[in-house]
Amino acid sequence: MQTKRVYIDGVSPEPELISEGANWLRAGELVAFPTETVYGLGANALSASACAKIFAAKGRPQDNPLIVHVCNRAMADRYVDGWTAEAEQCAHHFWPGPLTLVLKKKPLIPDNVTAGLPNIALRMPSHPVALRLIEESGLPIAAPSANLSGKPSPTNGSHVWRDMKGKIPLILDAGACPVGLESTVLDLSGKVPTILRPGGITKEKLEEILGEVQIDVPHENQAPKAPGMKYRHYAPQGEMILLVGSSQRVVQRMGLEIQRGHARLKKVGILCTLESAPFLHHLLPDLLFVLGSQNRPEEIAASLFEGLRVCDERGMDLILAEGIEEAGLGSAIMNRLQKAAGQRVEFI
Ligand code: TXA
Ligand code: MG
Repeated sequence: MQTKRVYIDGVSPEPELISEGANWLRAGELVAFPTETVYGLGANALSASACAKIFAAKGRPQDNPLIVHVCNRAMADRYVDGWTAEAEQCAHHFWPGPLTLVLKKKPLIPDNVTAGLPNIALRMPSHPVALRLIEESGLPIAAPSANLSGKPSPTNGSHVWRDMKGKIPLILDAGACPVGLESTVLDLSGKVPTILRPGGITKEKLEEILGEVQIDVPHENQAPKAPGMKYRHYAPQGEMILLVGSSQRVVQRMGLEIQRGHARLKKVGILCTLESAPFLHHLLPDLLFVLGSQNRPEEIAASLFEGLRVCDERGMDLILAEGIEEAGLGSAIMNRLQKAAGQRVEFI
């Protein structure tokens, strides 16, 4: 299939480009589009056959359900069997934005969208292109991140192009996604609101509105509540180690690993904070990617997936990443880094 990539204004999207996207969606085809978190791979959420194409294009396991995107509360209402007071509060405070709500679904949502689960995951994105596309198509849009399954989520149009060219008819490219990490997935179907995936809206912010909020800790021998969380994600091709500790210790250890790696003729890449970078560059890693300042985790969130992808493109055999404090947005960043490292985390 020939893939067309068009550049679209992320603030005031050109109506003719939105129409083109909406037409493909109504015709049961896939369209990649920007959201404030990451790019989505969209299909008509009311069509099982359109959504089946998402699983095929990504190579996504069938048991991993899709988030359905809506453009207003009334649209969300049509697919949820009973809004709770908590859902109302969340939508009021955080929509449009990077928060996905898991609630009981109505039967008109096809089973492959929810992977047979009784609940639906819903989100109203804030990106103008996403909102206009949903409005214009008049459809709820099922959309996972627009990467090949297992790869880092795409945070710009080039990432989508690399993963999806030849597989889908249209990519709407509006440049970089401002948040850069996927939405927080919050399960409101049980007694206590539970975060299934940390993301752009932090636990602290949710607690201000909801009171007690739990974080789901998947147990061995038990299916995780967000099936996607069990897969190895964001995995770069090279081996990756996440190092957590004081900046000084991390720098020291990285120096040692660079030497060891070079002795074995490995290419060693570093993902680090702005504060550590001045102490690392003279150790001559093959790649030094500065994620952002420790004091501005939103900067790190926005560049993390680009950093992981650059390591692959430049053929790094070993990737050493610096951990950050697990508070606020730092929790979501550390969650993605841990997954990328395949749980190879060292506290030093
Ligand atoms: O920011 C985002 O959420 C992006 C943009 C495109 O909106 N989407 C995204 O989708 O990250 P995806 O498919 O890559 O991740 C969705 C996560 C998975 O972990 C999945 O298992 C979980 O949400 N999920 C989806 N539907 C669910 C449901 N009904 N119950 C529990 N978890 C669900
Ligand atoms: Mg994904």
